[in-house]
Amino acid sequence: MTGNREFRLGVLGSGTGSNFVAIADACASGRLPARVAVVLSDVADAGILARAGERGIPARFTPPGKFRTKLDEEAERAFIDALEAARVDIVALAGFMRVLKGDFLRAFEGRIVNIHPSLLPSFPGLEAWRQALDHGVKVTGCTVHFVDAGVDSGPIIGQQTVPVLDDDTPATLHQRIHAAEHELYPRCLAELARREILVRGRRVVRVEDRRDDGRNPEGPRAGTGRDVESILS
Ligand code: GRF
Repeated sequence: MTGNREFRLGVLGSGTGSNFVAIADACASGRLPARVAVVLSDVADAGILARAGERGIPARFTPPGKFRTKLDEEAERAFIDALEAARVDIVALAGFMRVLKGDFLRAFEGRIVNIHPSLLPSFPGLEAWRQALDHGVKVTGCTVHFVDAGVDSGPIIGQQTVPVLDDDTPATLHQRIHAAEHELYPRCLAELARREILVRGRRVVRVEDRRDDGRNPEGPRAGTGRDVESILS
């Protein structure tokens, strides 16, 4: 992959799609040097499909199959095929409510990212903002991370904090976390698109801009070494 080629995102979501909108807007404004190549949803009437349609971005309902919390084999194949046909570099989960399993993870190994509404590893799983409120933490936030076989457990790319206020309800806290997500997710995706991120074990570290655009005399692979796993070289 050369750094000058268009960086293509596939976005998967089951809900309203506000993170997708933040990502698409960041692409449109140039803050995120990428294109949303396709949006897929496991929910036929999900807002995310409508929001994508309004923007002229290819979007389609892809039936999830017979299970409630994961894709069945046929559905998994359909998702993989659609993302491969769209030639995506990164699969960005934006409120996708199904756990991704073996074949899917293998097809896009190291190239699937997710946004989670807490400061991981605290409060993985559902309704993380409610978990944070119930626990009584004073600061929570959101996390963008790589997806691995666990639940909200992959290497952390970026985090943004949100204070918990004395008069917060689950709804008000969730709303402020959502707003933080809309800043954090495009920012992390931009770092990926600019090849500024390397994964060293569990640690995601920043390197200088590695796009092959002549600005980096050492070329797009500068900063990588044998001890370093480059996810997007
Ligand atoms: C966000 O809160 C995100 O953290 C979680 O799912 C929600 C998606 O919201 N993974 P939206 O559909 O992007 O508005």
